[in-house]
This record gives sequence, C-alpha cells and structure tokens, in this order.
Amino acid sequence: MNTTELAATAQAMVAGKRGILAADESTSTIAKRFASIKLESTQENRRLYRELLFTTAGAAEYISGVILYDETIRQKTSDGVPFPAYLADRKMIPGIKVDTGAKPLAGFPGETITEGLDGLRERLAEYHRLGARFAKWRAVIDIGAGIPSAYAVAANAEGLARYAALCQEAGIVPIVEPEVLMDGAHGIERCEEVTNFVLERVFAHLHAARIFLEGMVLKPNMVIAGKKCPQQASAAQVAEATVRTLKRHVPSAVPGIAFLSGGQSPAEATHNLSLMNAAGPLPWALTFSYGRALQETALAAWGGQAAAFAKGQQAFFVRAKLNSMAAGGSYQSSMESAAA
Ligand code: 13P
Repeated sequence: MNTTELAATAQAMVAGKRGILAADESTSTIAKRFASIKLESTQENRRLYRELLFTTAGAAEYISGVILYDETIRQKTSDGVPFPAYLADRKMIPGIKVDTGAKPLAGFPGETITEGLDGLRERLAEYHRLGARFAKWRAVIDIGAGIPSAYAVAANAEGLARYAALCQEAGIVPIVEPEVLMDGAHGIERCEEVTNFVLERVFAHLHAARIFLEGMVLKPNMVIAGKKCPQQASAAQVAEATVRTLKRHVPSAVPGIAFLSGGQSPAEATHNLSLMNAAGPLPWALTFSYGRALQETALAAWGGQAAAFAKGQQAFFVRAKLNSMAAGGSYQSSMESAAA
C-alpha cells in the first residue's frame, strides 16, 4: 500500500475550501432527475449533461474532485477528451462509484445491505487504469419503527470496511459513506442517536480491517430532523448536533469529512455547512460532496435546452462557489439573492 500517495490524494480532496461534486447517479437515478425537466435519459443526454457540469469555466477553483458513474468514466467531452483526463488536467480528481446499490437485507424487512464486493478488486484495477484515484460506496440506514437494527448497521459497516481495504490496496482513496436517511418523521434527537451508533460501528469495523485512516474521506449525513417531522431543527441546531456527533467518533487522523446533501435544499445544505465551519477550529477539514444540492439549480436552468447550456453552467458555478465559501465558514444566506 502506498500510504504517501493515498494520504496526498485524500488531502487534496478536502483541502483549500474545495469540495466534491457527486455526479455518479446510476442510470435509473439520472432518469428520475431528467424526468423533472422532461428530458429523455439517453446515453448522449447523460453525456451532455455531465459535460455541462465538468466544463463549467472556473468551477475547478471550488471543486476538488468529481464522482463518476461506470458509464461516465468511459465517456468523453464533445472534443473527444475522456472525462477523467479532462478533469485531472484541471486538478479535479476523478472518482468512481463502485457499490452496486442497496438491496433488501434478507430477514430484516425495511432494511438494506449495500452490495458490490464480488469482483471489486478487478473492477478497482480497471478504474485505476481509467484514471480514478478515489471511490465511493454508500451504505443506507433508514430510521423507522424498530429500525435500524444492530445487525443491519454492523453488516453495512463490514461492507464499508471491506470495500475501503480493497480500495487502499489498489491505490484508491475510499470515500466511506454511511448515510442515515432524512426521509422519516423522526426528530433531530433520534437522528443524532442513530448517527452516533452508526459512526461508532463504522469506525470499529474500519479499525478491525486495518484501514489507513489518513488515506480515506468520510461522507456522512448531517444530524437533522426527518423531512416529515413537524418539528424542524434550526440551522444552528443542525450544525451543533452534527459537529458534536462527528467529534465523538471521527479520529483526527481522518483528513476530511465531506457531507452528502441527502434531500436538503441547496441553500439549506450550504448554510448548515457554513455554520459548522464558522463555529471554530475542527480536527478535520469539513466540506461538501453534494449531488442534488450542487446540481438542482443547474439542471433546472438548463432544462435540456441547447440555448440554455451557459445558463446551466452559470447556476452550477454559483452553487460551487457558495459551497466553497461555506467550507471556509464565510457564506451568508443573503448571498443567495445576490447570486440569483
Ligand atoms: P446527495 O447530495 O444528492 O445526497 O448525493 C450525494 C451522494 O453521493 C449520495 O451517495
């Protein structure tokens, strides 16, 4: 294992107030996103949309890396440059989603196990040849009556640890993503309790699997009330509970934490991140690895119309810039109207 290279890559992913663009939607997920703008999900439309994001002028100042999907890592710009080479030339590290999705966990109704370990060593070797220097694996933990079970959390933590070990063997930095969903009706306290439990299990399994902590990035949920909860927590409460929870479980050897947005609005995800960074010195870099919160406005502004290509890029540029400010703790909500 080349620990020097792994540590340097992990550092580069989270340093300099830059963050990660999650553009690794599976073919079925991107079809749902395109449906919102009534655009057919063809291979060429998917390529064109990713090109819109990746070729946005100036975005590299705020974006350290991009998570690609298996189809995307093999695609090219209109000028014929492979996406991984295009990104790497602009100092945006190419990454790759390598899990094959969350499937129902046998014997545990309502819970899932993330799959994708079979053949992973060989797939990682190919992705490394294609230019990927980091990877992503997402475990999904739902909150509901009687769930999550300790077994489902442990099984998912073990999957994350085995994935992370294979990544590091291949010279690829693992993004370890245990996502506690915000879909339910639970309050912020329940989210904090479950997130504590999940992170404790995840790091126990990472230690047991001999993961090199300096060469990984954690991608957690924020501690936040479920979407259907009538009592929504304030941004200050979310920031405080999230930092408290992370400090309890994430060793300072981990160079950085890059949040998922998980269904928060773009402005909400930016505001929460900024408050955490403004609150004071932290043991790790705290940044973003957003999918929806970075892309929603760009997708809507573009609308699949060739004439609105530049508009889409402008919208993406604005979100990337505002989130970079949030990574430095200097974002203000008033910037939203100024940027619009
Ligand atoms: P969201 O920011 O849309 O939650 O997506 C991030 C991601 O990569 C989930 O795996």
